[in-house]
Amino acid sequence: MSSSWYTVPRGWVVSLTLASSLACLPSTLLGADDTRADRLVPLARLVQDPTPRVRLEALRALAKIPSAQAAEIALTVLNQPMDPTLDYALWLTINDLAEPWIAALESGAWSPTGREKQLEFALKAIKPDQASRVLAKALAKQPLTREGQGPWIELIGSAGTPAELRPLLDQTLKGGFDDAATARALRALGEASRLRRVQPGGALTEIGTLFSHNAPAVQVEALKLAAQWKQLGSHFPKLGQLAANAETPAAVRTEAFNTLRAIGGAGALESLTTLAGPANSPTIRLQAVGSLAALDLGRAVPVVVELARSLKDETAAQDLWRSVLPVKGAGKAIAGALPASGLDPAVARAGMRVAREGGRSDLDLVAALAKGAGLATDAQAFNTQLIKELAAKAGTAGDPNRGEAVYRRNELACTSCHAIGGAGGKVGPDLTSIGASAPADYLVESLILPNAKIKEGYSSVEITTKDGSEYIGTLARESQQEVVLRNAAGAEQAIAKNDIAKREQGVNSLMPSGLLESLNERDQLDLFAFLSRLGKPGDFDASKGGVARRWYFANLVHTDVQNGNGDWAWKKPLTDPRWKALYGRVNGQLTRQMMEEAARAEFWTGKLAVYAVTEINVTQAGPVHFQLECAPGPEVWVDGKKVGAVGASTADLSAGRHRVVLQIPPQHVPDALRLTSPDAAFVLN
Ligand code: HEC
Repeated sequence: MSSSWYTVPRGWVVSLTLASSLACLPSTLLGADDTRADRLVPLARLVQDPTPRVRLEALRALAKIPSAQAAEIALTVLNQPMDPTLDYALWLTINDLAEPWIAALESGAWSPTGREKQLEFALKAIKPDQASRVLAKALAKQPLTREGQGPWIELIGSAGTPAELRPLLDQTLKGGFDDAATARALRALGEASRLRRVQPGGALTEIGTLFSHNAPAVQVEALKLAAQWKQLGSHFPKLGQLAANAETPAAVRTEAFNTLRAIGGAGALESLTTLAGPANSPTIRLQAVGSLAALDLGRAVPVVVELARSLKDETAAQDLWRSVLPVKGAGKAIAGALPASGLDPAVARAGMRVAREGGRSDLDLVAALAKGAGLATDAQAFNTQLIKELAAKAGTAGDPNRGEAVYRRNELACTSCHAIGGAGGKVGPDLTSIGASAPADYLVESLILPNAKIKEGYSSVEITTKDGSEYIGTLARESQQEVVLRNAAGAEQAIAKNDIAKREQGVNSLMPSGLLESLNERDQLDLFAFLSRLGKPGDFDASKGGVARRWYFANLVHTDVQNGNGDWAWKKPLTDPRWKALYGRVNGQLTRQMMEEAARAEFWTGKLAVYAVTEINVTQAGPVHFQLECAPGPEVWVDGKKVGAVGASTADLSAGRHRVVLQIPPQHVPDALRLTSPDAAFVLN
């Protein structure tokens, strides 16, 4: 067994000792006098055993039987749940059995069809030169099709050497794939570079030719790949052009900025400085200044200050702060440059929140922002006594219905981190039953001093990468090659272990402190009262399903019909920016105010209807009943067919996901609305 090219993660060595002790196997399975077939039959069963420890022992016993069948049986362990120890044991076993397995694959005795996951594991486990041999032979027999059929593109990415990566790149550059396969190939090349540091042999600059591809998904992947390779030659200026062009799709522009930042150097600095300048639109400047700050904080600070003075919109301000403050030292530097007055309070509040979010604690900046906008920083020391008093007061004076509206305010961002009844963000714990399970003073403390007690499983992880970037988030998942964090904005960030310089357990909660400082006492008490009702019987019990809580709103306008797009509400993906996402109240109700806000048109348009959309999953085909509670107005449509109006209605539906659309006359948005169904599961996220 050679493991020189595999770095054994610390802590796994113990598992290895355990694995070879073979303690729980009957000794007959290990005896040298048994015939192979005798031993394989029980091992095939044991490798599927419900106890992971038994599966582990079976794997190591299989390693001692040098045959293709032993490898075949070992790989079936992947049908069961895996853990790092089992992963490692299978990795060792496949290495021991590599040659017989490869021979079986090449002769066709072991066919990968339907076993793509096993093939991928084995290719990653065997030595790179072995994997390269296997891939080269397979591709010679059956070259990649235009649609990139089969698992081969991804396999080249996860196990290929420069010799296999080069033809993949060449086929991509020559237009040898359709759009979807082109994007896949670029992603596979990116993963090879990011996770394994392997790149195609030869020149890489031609990747720049794909920046102007007509499919945005291809543009995005090409840009990401260029950020990995950092070689663009004469194609470099295209990055700035893409970033500056108002026609560039948003996802492509974001990637262009990321790539400029990743490539760095004088060229990128010059380009970003121009893009952050006043000649460009605020959207572009905002993105540019985030990348600029990462490369040269000194140059970025005056631009940040100027933007902070001119912005009025809280969301835009939040984007500004979230893009700049992760840069080391940014808080202090900006604090020193802010004006003593004249800041918009909304902009300052957004900054104060971000400055204390995700375990960050830029107190200098908080103070400077508060001063600049004439806001008070709440220096009040919260002690146990005060927390008890607030909790008691909330119990008598707080109004939970008003509190629910406070909870839903955008500027507090509670819903973007927490879910109730499954509807909402996933950064923090689900709050469905918090009121029934936690005492009132715990709730008050959670909001006022989030760092006092951090809920188990939600402590933060801080990672510094070798290029100096810092990431803070909760651990979403982790594999041998990468760590995935979920940051305070709910976005997942994958960090290759190769790139990690330092990893620490964070001491602070991801929940921002000082969230309540912008609330007056009444709002605070109402919010506490709302939280303390959650999970108790009545209007604030979200534990039962059967009610729509996740909605998407949009308007049907005259031009849609003129352009023959009258039916887009059935087709447009719910991720399209035209839809405005909205969570209903805990009891599922949408109020008129919530609906009107969600359906507000940004410019003058002839509104024909307001669409309110939710989705359901039907497990068994048949009639599905709906109950729509509201004053007359909306009509219920499912899959393009009208099925009813207010009251009860029924639709005959196939199993699977369906879109339910309420068509609301724009002049008659009802006071409140609620949709339930006893037969279908409403989709939450
Ligand atoms: C940036 C994300 C974020 C925002 C915004 C946020 N929280 Fe949290 N919240 C968390 C995380 C993460 C935890 C778990 C860590 C901890 O206990 O501090 C948490 C914990 C809590 C807890 C304790 C839960 C428990 O089970 O112990 C309560 C209650 C809570 N948050 C309420 C709120 C309310 C109300 C708001 C809005 C005013 C809010 N949070 C805003 C991320 C957030």
